[in-house]
Amino acid sequence: MLNVGIIGCGSITVHRHAPEVFQNENLTLYGVYDPITAHAKAIVEKYSGKIYETVDELINDDNLDIIIVATPNKYHGPYSIAALNAGKHVLCEKPMAANLEEAKEMIEAAKKNDRKLMIGQNQRLIPAHIKAKQILDSKELGKILTFQTVFGHRGAERWSIAKSPSTWFFNKEEAIFGAMGDLGVHKADLVRWLVGEEFVKVSSFVSVRDKKYKSGDYINIDDNAVCILQSESGIVGTLAVSWTYYGGESNATIFNCEKGALWLFRDPEAPIKIKYADGSETTIKIGTISTNDKQVTSGVVDLLVDSILNDTKVLIDGYEGYKALEIIANCVKSAETGETIKF
Ligand SMILES: NC(=O)c1ccc[n+]([C@@H]2O[C@H](COP(=O)([O-])OP(=O)(O)OC[C@H]3O[C@@H](n4cnc5c(N)ncnc54)[C@H](O)[C@@H]3O)[C@@H](O)[C@H]2O)c1
Repeated sequence: MLNVGIIGCGSITVHRHAPEVFQNENLTLYGVYDPITAHAKAIVEKYSGKIYETVDELINDDNLDIIIVATPNKYHGPYSIAALNAGKHVLCEKPMAANLEEAKEMIEAAKKNDRKLMIGQNQRLIPAHIKAKQILDSKELGKILTFQTVFGHRGAERWSIAKSPSTWFFNKEEAIFGAMGDLGVHKADLVRWLVGEEFVKVSSFVSVRDKKYKSGDYINIDDNAVCILQSESGIVGTLAVSWTYYGGESNATIFNCEKGALWLFRDPEAPIKIKYADGSETTIKIGTISTNDKQVTSGVVDLLVDSILNDTKVLIDGYEGYKALEIIANCVKSAETGETIKF
């Protein structure tokens, strides 16, 4: 049995991490920490475990094998590095760090301590996305010419346990990135993985369009972004994210290829639709995708545990998290400077 400690008992722990730890027969939820004790208490009362008084007490508990970092983004780097240095395997939520330097330090800490580091970029584990990877890699649609990926919903304040605009998601000091860090990093990771190439050039508009604090002032972080990404072979696509899709959630990707188009979660009838150049169509009904209102198991916890027990490479490791962060950090830089960024 491996003992798990969770730092941060907000919505992602309530909906995914705690139930996924509980359901894994190799794991025991040993304890949790949250500065708001009521949040910690709700988790241990529903599942199991102790409540730590401080984060240091949790990180340094020799009984723990795995630590899940599910806090506001600002703390991902420092807590993950401390946990790795304390000899624990780490599952850290996305975006992995506040900046690329911190992300590199996390990767080095995992290497130095010979511990697994996994980043919660779970879009890759969705069955339709795994199938899409097989379709694209098989080249049955020819090469990818262009893509569009979009992730938008009604706003992080409705998801966060705070259920209010006072959420840390709307505070640049703790969130670092707004909708780009919440949603953009997921899609940056997904398209990079599906395309199978690095992105090397971005240009973007990242802005605050609508979200306000209770005071009526606009939030100090992005609620919308539209980005253009170019890969090393020249594939160009758009990535759009939003916290203001009040008409409904969108979590879709389309690849336009030489022999047709691959639609992922674009058609409500089927997770995958292939529209061939000759006008014929195929649908593939495989799995589903989480929405803010309906959660499905993400699989990240099981994947980390498999890689620990079998001592295999973590599928979504620190390097993968770094590359996704690199894309969104450069998009933000592009928006700030008004320039196209090459990296
Ligand atoms: N992988 C995904 O699909 C996914 C989805 C949602 C959120 N997330 C990520 O999960 C993380 C947590 O988000 P959430 O939705 O649970 O937010 P949330 O607002 O619902 O909860 C955050 C929790 O962290 C606690 N907290 C605040 N400061 C802390 C600290 N210093 N140490 C420990 N806990 C602290 C808060 O009290 C709260 O209980 C974020 O990084 C977010 O980006 C990932």
